[in-house]
Amino acid sequence: MNLNIAVLPGDGIGPEVTKQSIKVLHAIAMEFNHKFYFKHASVGAIAIDETGNPLPDETLTLCKESDAILFGAIGDPKYDNDPSAPVRPEQGLLKLRKELGLFANIRPVKAYETLLDQSPLKEERIKGTDISIYRELTGGIYFGEKTLNEGGNVASDLCVYSKEEIARITHLAFKAAASRKKKVTLVDKANVLESSRLWRKVVTEIAKEYPEITLDFLFVDNASMQLILNPNQFDVILTENMFGDILSDEASVIGGSIGLLASASIGEKYALFEPIHGSFPQAKGKGIANPIASILSAAMLLEHFGLYKEASLIQKAVEKSLELNITTSDLNPKNKLITTERVGDFIEDFILHPNDTNRNFANIHLGQSTII
Ligand code: IPM
Ligand code: MN
Repeated sequence: MNLNIAVLPGDGIGPEVTKQSIKVLHAIAMEFNHKFYFKHASVGAIAIDETGNPLPDETLTLCKESDAILFGAIGDPKYDNDPSAPVRPEQGLLKLRKELGLFANIRPVKAYETLLDQSPLKEERIKGTDISIYRELTGGIYFGEKTLNEGGNVASDLCVYSKEEIARITHLAFKAAASRKKKVTLVDKANVLESSRLWRKVVTEIAKEYPEITLDFLFVDNASMQLILNPNQFDVILTENMFGDILSDEASVIGGSIGLLASASIGEKYALFEPIHGSFPQAKGKGIANPIASILSAAMLLEHFGLYKEASLIQKAVEKSLELNITTSDLNPKNKLITTERVGDFIEDFILHPNDTNRNFANIHLGQSTII
C-alpha cells in the first residue's frame, strides 16, 4: 500500500516521540512491502514562533492532501501562564480538528499484564481492563461561543450539540462495541445539563438499531469514580468533548503511564493519529519521553487502513519491550539509561526480525539491539 503521511511533530517532546513512530513505520514498510511517504509541517507554539499562526495554511493544505496525519504534541508553558496571549498553540490543534471534521476521538485504555504493578491502583482492580473511549471532538464547550465582558471580569463558554453531531459518533461507538464486549456506557451530566439530556435521547434512540449491544448511563462525576473503583465494568465509553478529555487522562492511570495512551481522531474524509499526552516541556530534548503512545498511534493509523497484521506486529513489539523492561523511566525509575531512542530502536528491531528468538538482551539494555 502507498500512503502519504503528513507529520506534524509540534512542540516539546512531540518531535522526539514522533521520530520513533516514523522509524517504526519505516520498518513496517520494509517488512511488508509498503511505501510510506512522510512530509513534515509545523503546528503549535513552534509555528507561532515561525509564522505567528499555530496552524499555518501550508500545514492545513498538506494535511488535506495527505492520506493520514501523524501528530506529536502541542503546548508551551509560556502560553499556559499567560491568559491574555492573543494566540495559543492549542488553537492550532483545535482548528485542525474542526477544519478536517475529526469528530470521533478514539482512545484505547489497557492494563498491560506486565505493568500491573506500575499503576498506583490495586492490581486486582485493574487486571484485564480494556476500554475504548469514544470522545466527541468537534463540538461542545470547546467550540461554542466564548465571551468576555468589557471589564474582563465575566466570561462564558457555550456548550452546544446537535442531534447529527451526537448521532454520527454514537454509530461509531456502537459498531466498535459490536466487535468487543458489546456494551456502551454513555457518560453525561443529564441531571443538570440540557445538552446531556439531548445526548441521552439521541443515543437511546440509536441503541434500538443495535439490539445486541447493552447501553447504560453514568453521570460524569460517578463515572470518574467508577473508572478508578472498577474499570473492568467498562467496554466502550461514549461521551462529549470535555468529559472525554478529562476522563481519558484519568483513565491513563490504569495503564501506569500517560506515555502509553494512543489515539485516533477520525472524520468522514480525514484521520489524525496522536498520543494523548501533552508536550511535556520539562522533558524536551532529554531523551526520557516515552515513545510508546506515539508508536501505538502509528499502529492505529495502520489499522485505519486495514493493515491489521502490521498494526498487531507493532503491538506485539511494544508488549515485548514492556515485558523485557526496555522502557523509559516513567514506567521504571531504575531505567534512567533507557532513552526514547532506545525504546524506538528495540521496537524497530523486533519488527525487522520478528522471528528471532535469539536476542542479545544485554546489548539491548546497552542500546545496541544487535541480533546474535
Ligand atoms: C487532548 C488535549 C487537547 C484537548 C488540548 C491540547 C487542546 O488535552 O487532546 O486531550 O483538550 O483536547
Ligand atoms: Mn487532554
